[in-house]
Amino acid sequence: MAQLTIAIPKGRLEAETLDLFAAAGLSLPAHRDPRQLACLDESGETRFIFVKPSDVPVYVEHGIADCGVVGRDVLFESEADLLQPLSLEIGACRIAVAAPADLPDNGHSMLRVATKYPRIASRYFGARGQPVEIIQLSGSVELAPVLGLADCIVDLVETGSTLRENGLKVTEVIAASAAQLVVNRASYQLKATVIAKLISALKGVVLLRAVARASRP
Ligand code: PRP
Repeated sequence: MAQLTIAIPKGRLEAETLDLFAAAGLSLPAHRDPRQLACLDESGETRFIFVKPSDVPVYVEHGIADCGVVGRDVLFESEADLLQPLSLEIGACRIAVAAPADLPDNGHSMLRVATKYPRIASRYFGARGQPVEIIQLSGSVELAPVLGLADCIVDLVETGSTLRENGLKVTEVIAASAAQLVVNRASYQLKATVIAKLISALKGVVLLRAVARASRP
């Protein structure tokens, strides 16, 4: 039976995450069917489960997965109580406000904000005393200001190409985001040895990569 279950976010972070785990000695079987949502690594000691990024904190907080990989954007939005022992230095991006033009500094008039991150957006504008109507969407958020559903968006910006293609620009950066290793609190105690070994192996890879980056001409 697997000693450890790790939740992997499907999509944007998936390939980089699996690459990192492979470098740390946890490889998937060569011919895994991508529709298989749970599978053992080659040693049979670790089980990977593949879930939507926003569900990673849910699986880890409930202890279904001992560990997981998730963007800080998702963690900021989630209220899950998780340990965050290591930044994995992959999936770097920004959480930003974007709009077709600079937002008017109209103080107290209501701003319509479309987003997949209602908590982050409410907190950000709330701290500025800006009244907002949050319009929650689950994807293709950039369309909202273009079609008149919202004045601006709060969303992830990685390369910036989705914004450019839709005639939007970043007006304010809220926070930087990158992938984080998260660990269930009980697992951290009950499986201390195996989790410490995983953290140490991942830390080694992260460090080696940082050194390689720094020594590039
Ligand atoms: C994310 C994000 C932006 C886009 C940013 O969406 O919400 O739409 O990627 O990436 P870029 O700056 O490199 O263009 P995702 O691809 O996860 O799809 P979604 O719109 O369905 O959420």
